[in-house]
Parts: sequence; C-alpha cells; structure tokens
Amino acid sequence: MVKLMQVYEGKAKKVISLDEGKVIMEFKDDVTAFDGGKKAQFRGKGWLNAQISAHLFRVLEEKGIKTHFIGVAGENRLIVERLRMYPLEVVVRNVVAGSLKRRLPLEEGTELPEPIVELYYKDDSLHDPMINRYHAKILGVSEAELGEIERIALNVNEILREYFRGRGIILVDFKLEFGKNERGEIVLGDEISPDTCRFWDAETKKSLDKDVFRFDKGDLINAYEELYTRLTG
Ligand code: TMP
Ligand code: ASP
Repeated sequence: MVKLMQVYEGKAKKVISLDEGKVIMEFKDDVTAFDGGKKAQFRGKGWLNAQISAHLFRVLEEKGIKTHFIGVAGENRLIVERLRMYPLEVVVRNVVAGSLKRRLPLEEGTELPEPIVELYYKDDSLHDPMINRYHAKILGVSEAELGEIERIALNVNEILREYFRGRGIILVDFKLEFGKNERGEIVLGDEISPDTCRFWDAETKKSLDKDVFRFDKGDLINAYEELYTRLTG
C-alpha cells in the first residue's frame, strides 16, 4: 500500500512524500509576489508550471544535468526524487532586471558581460536575504558543495540560454534550488517555471513570466501559455 503523507505546503506548491525516496510536487494555481504581499489565483497556472518544469528538466537531463525529475503524475503533479535540500536560492542572471537594478548602476535590459550568480538564504522570516559564500559555510554548505552548486547552475544557464535563444526568447535570469540525494549526489531540485525565471520575447522584450503579475503587464495565463507553446509546439 502506498501511504500518502503531506509533508509541506508552500506558497505555490505542495510537497507530498511517498515511499521509496519519492515525492510528489503539486503545483498550485496560487501566485504570490513581493514577499507574499501580492496574491492571486489563476486557473490553469499549476498545470502550466508543472508541464513547463517537466519539459525543462527533460531538456537538462538530456544534456547530462542531474535533476530530481522522475515523471509527470497527472495534470499538475510531478514525481521527483526526495532530496535533502540546501537552504539556498541560487539566482543566475544574464541581463539586468529585477533586484539587480537596485544593486548596480545599470539599466534594465543591459546584457551582462558574463553571467552573475547570487546566493540567497531561503528563510521567509528573514525575507530570503542575499548572502555570500562565508554565510553559506556557516549555514552548513561546504566550499566544495558550493563550488559544485555554482558549476551546475552556470552549466544549466548555458544549456537553457541556448535552448531559449533557439525559440526567440531571452533567458534574463532565474532561480534554482539544489539538494543531496540518498547517494550523496548534488542534484537540481524544485521547479524551473515562469514563476521562477524571467523570459523576454527577443524582439518585443515582452515578459513571458511572473513579472506580468508583479507589474500588472497583462494576462498571466496568456503569457504562460505562449511560453508553453513556444517551448513544446
Ligand atoms: P530578483 O530580480 O527579484 O532578485 O529575481 C531574480 C530571479 O529569481 C527572477 O527570475 C525571479 C526569481 N525569484 C524566485 O524564483 N523567487 C524569489 O523569491 C525571488 C525573489 C526571485
Ligand atoms: N516568490 C516571492 C513571493 O512570494 C517573491 C517574488 O517572486 O516576487 O513573494
């Protein structure tokens, strides 16, 4: 008998643990922004994010990246390998947007000479502060682990940037999360979706991601559907 046990409900996903080291990730229709300050629900968002994440995990697996993805388990659910997650959000940036504008004197849309990796401590009560490698070490992430995490993050960036370029889309920036599996390997976890990335149409610079919701730029489902179609159609 498979025992279903809910272990965690986040702002946009539920994680349900199964036997045999597997976990169900259920994508909700809820969306939040600005540290939970802005909230809404869009019917179909959970389905779109589950499908887009599954698609991108497959693209990465084909290029040799180890991810937690095992398979799709219905409309808005993925089956993934259970990981012990690092308490980090790893952001990679190719183009100036979002919070980088508040850190460097650069205009939105400026292409960076090389990708930037940023680390954040994943803790809602502290509002996910940006940290550096010294802080990460105190949080229990060794230098060797961090080196490996950064290497994988930059590799993911190369693969996805090229993949999106081929579809007329600029990969502006994105957030990854990593964990360790039972074999002690560092594996890419969580999701890769328009909730956690910035995608711009290469010609019009139109957002195909959560900025549509953050900054009231139009219809979120239209934008996510367009992204999904351009990836899979
Ligand atoms: P930022 O410009 O707001 O720092 O965001 C950088 C990228 O990280 C952007 O693609 C959105 C993503 N992100 C998340 O997935 N979760 C978060 O909590 C934040 C702040 C950003
Ligand atoms: N996901 C974060 C929140 O809930 C921040 C963001 O993506 O804007 O609020």
